[in-house]
Amino acid sequence: MIYITRRERFNAAHRLFREDFTDKQNDAVFGKCSNPNWHGHNYELFVTVKGELNPQTGFLLNLKTLSKIIREQVIVKLDHKNINLEVDFMNGKLASTENLAIGIWEELEPHIKALAANLHCVKVSESENNFVEYYGN
Ligand code: NI
Repeated sequence: MIYITRRERFNAAHRLFREDFTDKQNDAVFGKCSNPNWHGHNYELFVTVKGELNPQTGFLLNLKTLSKIIREQVIVKLDHKNINLEVDFMNGKLASTENLAIGIWEELEPHIKALAANLHCVKVSESENNFVEYYGN
């Protein structure tokens, strides 16, 4: 089994909040990320795929193909967008990095399967210090 990872980047706006919380409660739970006027992050997305090496190519899969899938399935939906308002697969979800990683996984998984490989990890980094890794259920 071999693992390869492709990094893509996007920037997006979001707000962490619950409608049933007051601004004060939102601030207490979500801190700066609950600013009612939104804010943005420069996100990094690391997609790790696993599978068996193709002896003809020496590849697991072509990284250009993986990059194209990631860009077409998720980056175009996220880049320069408001995650709360404009991203279909985040509809009705709290715009946390955790939910973003799960949502990206769900968008990508069928397309990775179609390449005869398996999605291993979706890592979403919101800042240099904070990142989330999702390995599926
Ligand atoms: Ni934030």
